[in-house]
Amino acid sequence: MTTSRESPGRRLMARIDEFAAFTDEPGKLTRLYLSDAHKRAVAQFIAWAQAIGLDARLDAAGNVVARYEGRDAGAPALLIGSHIDTVRDAGRYDGNLGALAALAVVEELAERGERLDVAVEIVAFGDEEGVRFPKTLTGSRALAGLIEEGALDQQDRDGVVMRDALQAFGGEPDRVGSERRQGIAGFVEVHIEQGPVLEAEGLPLGVVTAINGATRFDISVSGAAGHAGTVPMSLRRDALAAAAEMMLAIEARAGAEADLVATVGRIEAEPGAVNVIPGRVRFSLDVRAPRDEQRQRAVADIAATLGAIAAQRGVAVQLVKTHEAGAYVCDPNVVAGLTAAVEAVGAKPRLLPSGAGHDTMIMGQLCPAGMLFVRCKGGVSHNPLESITLEDCEIALAALTRFVRDFRA
Ligand code: GLV
Ligand code: MN
Ligand code: MN
Repeated sequence: MTTSRESPGRRLMARIDEFAAFTDEPGKLTRLYLSDAHKRAVAQFIAWAQAIGLDARLDAAGNVVARYEGRDAGAPALLIGSHIDTVRDAGRYDGNLGALAALAVVEELAERGERLDVAVEIVAFGDEEGVRFPKTLTGSRALAGLIEEGALDQQDRDGVVMRDALQAFGGEPDRVGSERRQGIAGFVEVHIEQGPVLEAEGLPLGVVTAINGATRFDISVSGAAGHAGTVPMSLRRDALAAAAEMMLAIEARAGAEADLVATVGRIEAEPGAVNVIPGRVRFSLDVRAPRDEQRQRAVADIAATLGAIAAQRGVAVQLVKTHEAGAYVCDPNVVAGLTAAVEAVGAKPRLLPSGAGHDTMIMGQLCPAGMLFVRCKGGVSHNPLESITLEDCEIALAALTRFVRDFRA
């Protein structure tokens, strides 16, 4: 018997806290794809899944997959889960909430010995954030058979090749991308909203209608390094000053259109000394919009503007696309099922789009897919201050459980 002190939501919150200890940076939560902390987190996740009698394993790309059979062995599977990699200095709920909520739902079914028409598979994706390697969503792309050309040859900041890191992790690089999972009837992901809408409206849960598409670039600007004291301003080819102008142009372009966002999140200047004019700069660019055509137009405009700024300043600019994911409109049947589940647990289903990227946008290319959002404090995410309440956790778990029970392939 489950006592109120051991309610599923309370158990889930405790597990999320425990899981946050798997970090590559003491004092912060940083768990990058195929890192040591990721490996320890995977071992713990598999142990928890095995403890409830599941057949849990690491797949070729380093995702954890754990299957709970339906009434008939080999029945099509409903996949539920999210990612367990994090950004640097992350909050503990982004991704991890959805992966551990999936475990909690199946735990409840298993404890009751309840079998459904479908099998339920829990998935804990290894790379959704795309922080360690330039390409992103590697976990779901591999599962959906959509791995990109050259993905395994990418290097991280330290020159480690993904193929080698995956091999050392216990994955099977030669099999990644050669398989598209069969027998999958649907995918559902629980995730914190990462925005302020639900909190502003006093609602615990949201049902996602669509996910913004995104394009990312690695941009290099090459000028001429020189002496900070001797080269007159008119004769400089300062790569950092050029990059600064480019960033302001990017900000202005995105700000000129509703729903369009663009972010430069990382910058490195070389040689990086107080008395040297920067000769080379690299920065990242992330552009997102709800409509693919809108995003593509913005990307084309930004590329042209950066070229013009470079020409005017006598520097060279190069844009290398590292990631592209089209906007995804969530499956109408999954949206309807989630809406009904939210109503069934006594909450008002708020339909809303997602500005953040998610594994769902890739899984939607494999099977009908959708998402349930959970209110988070202040809408804050990608920040250690991320937080949700126990009450919201309980109701999210109840809604997901309801959805799973009512799901028909
Ligand atoms: C993932 O969190 C993303 O949207 O960048
Ligand atoms: Mn996430
Ligand atoms: Mn994230």
